[in-house]
Amino acid sequence: MVSAKTLAEELLAKDLPRRWQHVQAVGRRAGLFANALQQRELTNLIAAGFVHDIGYAEPIMDTGFHPIDGARHLRRLGFDEDIVCLVAHHTCAHIEADLRELGTTLQTEFPRHVALPHDELLFCDLTTGPCGELVTVEDRLAEVKTRYGADHLVHRFITTAEDQLLAAAERAKAKLASKAWAA
Ligand SMILES: [Fe+2]
Repeated sequence: MVSAKTLAEELLAKDLPRRWQHVQAVGRRAGLFANALQQRELTNLIAAGFVHDIGYAEPIMDTGFHPIDGARHLRRLGFDEDIVCLVAHHTCAHIEADLRELGTTLQTEFPRHVALPHDELLFCDLTTGPCGELVTVEDRLAEVKTRYGADHLVHRFITTAEDQLLAAAERAKAKLASKAWAA
């Protein structure tokens, strides 16, 4: 089976080069959690970092909501179901899915397994800018709101989800800090 990185490169590098820069940085950033996760969790987190945004690639677009479209494609290709679930639910996707009236589709096709490193993936995603640069979560959320404009659904999503996004990032950051100290 194709690797997560190769799949992301095939789907994003040519048509969506900025997304390709972004996901590579998210995949690399996931390595920060090396001391905080079991090996299997870490491997899946890194893989999910690379493929979390493949649903933006036109050839695999289906519902138009990239977490679902990306997760469906990964499942078709036989990727580990933990990676599929991480991608389907990345960065509080359930809140945006509800705004798009896709909440039931998301939960039915991809039940959310709470034990997976969702917070860690969110932290890596939200501390990585659109071109892969390191940013704060607060700046990242502000950037997304500016990019999409007040009337856009994504802007509404960030406004609705902001507290939960920040809380999840803080949980991941705390885990990172405690493990770094322990190491
Ligand atoms: Fe992302």
